[in-house]
Amino acid sequence: MIKIAPSILAADFGMLREQTKMVEEAGADYLHVDVMDGHFVPNLSFGTGMVSALRPHTGLVMDCHLMVENPEKYIYHFEKAGADILTVHVEASNHIHRILQQIHDHGMKAGLAINPGTPACAIKEVIDLADMILVMSVNPGFTGQKFIPGVLGKVREIREMAPDKDIQIDGGIGLSNLYDVTEAGANVIVAGAAIYYAENPAAEIRKFRETAYKG
Ligand code: DX5
Ligand code: ZN
Repeated sequence: MIKIAPSILAADFGMLREQTKMVEEAGADYLHVDVMDGHFVPNLSFGTGMVSALRPHTGLVMDCHLMVENPEKYIYHFEKAGADILTVHVEASNHIHRILQQIHDHGMKAGLAINPGTPACAIKEVIDLADMILVMSVNPGFTGQKFIPGVLGKVREIREMAPDKDIQIDGGIGLSNLYDVTEAGANVIVAGAAIYYAENPAAEIRKFRETAYKG
C-alpha cells in the first residue's frame, strides 16, 4: 500500500494549521515539509519554527525534506521541532555518510534525496544507512513543475539496489503518472499541487490509492 505525503509547499500559507488538518482528514499519511535555503535551491520556504508550530496539531508523520546547504547544522533543531523523518540531499555534502548517522543518533529516520541530474550510483555506498530514498522527479525549488519521465529508470535501478526500502518520489506527481512511478518501484508519493489544488483532496487521495500499481 502506498503512502501519501502532501507537500505543504502548495498550501495556503495564511492558514497552515487548517491546511494540515485538511490533508490529515483527507487520508494522508505524511506531511511533506519542503525546507529551502535560497542557496541549494533558488527559493526560500520555511524551517523549524513552522514544524514545531504544527507538530502539536497533527498526528501525521512529519516528513522534512531539506533542500539546504550544510544540512548537518540543522539536525538537532529538527529533532527538537518534532520531525520524524529528516531527508538530506546527496548533492548537499561531502560527508553524507556521517550526516545519515547523525540523523539516526538524533532519533529520526534518515531520508536520502537525489536530484534528477545525479545518477543512482552516487548513493550506492550509503544506501544501507538510509531508511528512505527520495527520488526527485523535478529540479527542486518549486511546486507545480512538470514531471521528468527520465527519472523512472532511476527509480527502477534504486528499487533493485534496495528491494525493501521506502522509495519516495517527489515532483510533478498526479493521477496521470502515478501508475508508472509506482510500477517502477516508488511507494511514498509526494504531491503538492495535485492534492492542495484539487477540488476535493480526499477524493483525490482515494483516486491515488486506486490508481497505484498493486503488483
Ligand atoms: C520541490 C519540492 C516538492 C514539491 C512538490 O522542490 O521538493 O516537494 O513541493 O510539489 P508538486 O507535487 O506540486 O510538484
Ligand atoms: Zn519535497
